[in-house]
Amino acid sequence: MAKIGVLSGASTDTATKDTTLAGGRLPQHVAIIMDGNGRWAKAHGLPRFEGHRRGVEAVRRSVTAAQEIGLEALTLYSFSSENWSRPFAEISELMGLLKRFIRSDLKRLHEKNVRVRIIGEGHPDDPEIGTLLRETEILTQDNDGLQLTVAFNYGSRNEIARAARKLAEEVAAGCLTPEEITPDRLSAELDTAGLPPLDLVIRTSGEQRLSNFLLWQAAYAELVFLPVLWPDFDRTWLENAVNEYARRERRFGGIGSDGY
Ligand code: IPE
Ligand code: IPE
Ligand code: MG
Repeated sequence: MAKIGVLSGASTDTATKDTTLAGGRLPQHVAIIMDGNGRWAKAHGLPRFEGHRRGVEAVRRSVTAAQEIGLEALTLYSFSSENWSRPFAEISELMGLLKRFIRSDLKRLHEKNVRVRIIGEGHPDDPEIGTLLRETEILTQDNDGLQLTVAFNYGSRNEIARAARKLAEEVAAGCLTPEEITPDRLSAELDTAGLPPLDLVIRTSGEQRLSNFLLWQAAYAELVFLPVLWPDFDRTWLENAVNEYARRERRFGGIGSDGY
């Protein structure tokens, strides 16, 4: 009999995996494109910033829900390489929110045994953000609970190009032969090296595109597009997506389990 303590709201510290959800076919690694903050604000007659602020609360709810459900890894797209094209005021607000989030939530995340990693290129022009991101990774590096990865100033094409450059440098230095460059070898140079394979990508707000997020890693991930705007996202939506994932048949190029 599966433990249902998690569903009745047991503490996440003692929670065991909720095998009742998704018939026990839980994804290990879920990534979310958190989209729709601006449209949420517009629908409520509020400035875009208020949508982002409410989006941070949805981040908190998602991390808690991911722990309670028993996911191993949660990767959140917080700021893309392309988001620098937004107005300066909006970028400043987003950077301010990131700093405030780390300052207010890092201790609690650490206490909850969450390991936080940052992928992407960081913010070379803002040493304060760089320091906060490094401190976050160092403080939580030995935690073995939920692996929370935040994609910040992240772009998948850029990540793949950086990995390719690294391998090219090794070839040029005579440490690697071109024949040794395989998908596994390249994967090991990506920012996501060490994380479990990506099973499920969720995008909120109804948009149906990847927007330069985890293009390599999503090669065989299931994609679930939800109509909810990110500030309204909660555990129920996450469970809906996980249940949808469990209903899918992953074929990886083969044929169905019934022989068809
Ligand atoms: C997602 O919400 C947050 C970031 C991209 C930083 P948006 O700001 O893209 O919201 P919409 O798409 O304009 O509604
Ligand atoms: C993707 O959302 C980036 C993040 C959620 C951080 P965008 O709102 O930037 O994507 P597009 O521009 O609609 O493709
Ligand atoms: Mg958007």
